[in-house]
Amino acid sequence: MTEFNGLRREFLDSVSGKRVLVRSDLNVPLDGTRITDDGRIRASVPTIRALADAGARVVVMAHLGRPKGEPDPAYSLAPVAARLGELLGAPVAFATDTVGASARETVTALQDGQVALLENVRFNAGETSKDDAERGAFADQLAGLAGADGAFVSDGFGVVHRKQASVYDVAQRLPHAMGGLVAAEVEVLRRLTVDPERPYVVVLGGSKVSDKLGVIDNLLGKADKLLIGGGMVFTFLRADGLEVGNSLLEEDQLDTVRAYQDRAKELGVEIVLPTDIVVADSFGDEASARVVAADAIPADSLGLDIGPESGKAFAAALADARTVFWNGPMGVFEQPAFAEGTRAVADALTKVDGLSVVGGGDSAAAVRTLGFDEAAFGHISTGGGASLEYLEGKELPGITVLED
Ligand code: 3PG
Repeated sequence: MTEFNGLRREFLDSVSGKRVLVRSDLNVPLDGTRITDDGRIRASVPTIRALADAGARVVVMAHLGRPKGEPDPAYSLAPVAARLGELLGAPVAFATDTVGASARETVTALQDGQVALLENVRFNAGETSKDDAERGAFADQLAGLAGADGAFVSDGFGVVHRKQASVYDVAQRLPHAMGGLVAAEVEVLRRLTVDPERPYVVVLGGSKVSDKLGVIDNLLGKADKLLIGGGMVFTFLRADGLEVGNSLLEEDQLDTVRAYQDRAKELGVEIVLPTDIVVADSFGDEASARVVAADAIPADSLGLDIGPESGKAFAAALADARTVFWNGPMGVFEQPAFAEGTRAVADALTKVDGLSVVGGGDSAAAVRTLGFDEAAFGHISTGGGASLEYLEGKELPGITVLED
């Protein structure tokens, strides 16, 4: 991979007294205004702090959720600004708009070493527009906040797969550098794709097979074993001719799944499916949770986790792995009755003697929610979709734009 202009000494030495726009991924889960998992904010702190320590006037740009291109208080970054300030140990000035009067006043008032956060960039329709001119116009305004001698640092790994104004177009308008978080994520993902140490085991879960097609396609040729759990497993079980009751099922993916199974056989890749399932009478009904064999799912129930025997089998399959990539929980881990499969996989990953990578989004949140020590994993990615797209072999616009 091309060498990038990371936050090297020369870059840090050049930023004192200048405004530096930083794109971070601060898209964290919220319960009302309470942040339920601040992992992405914590992961963004080192780059922001390095720039502030170097005397830059740091202007952070970020999104939260998927508002419809106009202000929506439910998606305000205000709680995130407060948490970022706590983690930095210094107040973060919050602009209540993206490029309007508040943003201009806020960035003008910044002193060397101070940090500001703009309101959710997706409150402006230009951020996610498919129209280059509309995106470009918003990027011009964002870049304008940096001033004539400003710069841009791309540090939001979770959004580098998005061709959006604050990720892509701003980089075309300002001198730019790759932040340390993006550099670290890319290095780990490279190790998963270029000459991984073997055995290489991939664990996939989450609700939909259709979200994972590209990654299964690409990793079937690279991994030694593929362990499947989560809602997507029922399409695999159905493809094997089993009844899955009311469990999640993507009928239109059955042929694709059968084709994967054939290809796996040809390539000598073992696809491991659960042999027992935790079912319930309805979604989330913990009182009715019980374990059944995977080939005896009652017609009036639905599967919400892999069973204990499968948890042990998955852990055994991971025991001698030297490289592991895991994306997607094994069940509805937010509820204790359906969390044990995810816990068994997470626990097995902490024991891997080699590189263990938790691909972002739900699996990263699961690891923290279930109380695991993050340091026990080789790497917990901040990017769900971004890591999957990297592993699919797709070009990531937010990274290629930095090569210019
Ligand atoms: C994520 O949550 O994966 C990133 O923040 C990207 O969010 P998006 O899928 O809404 O673009």
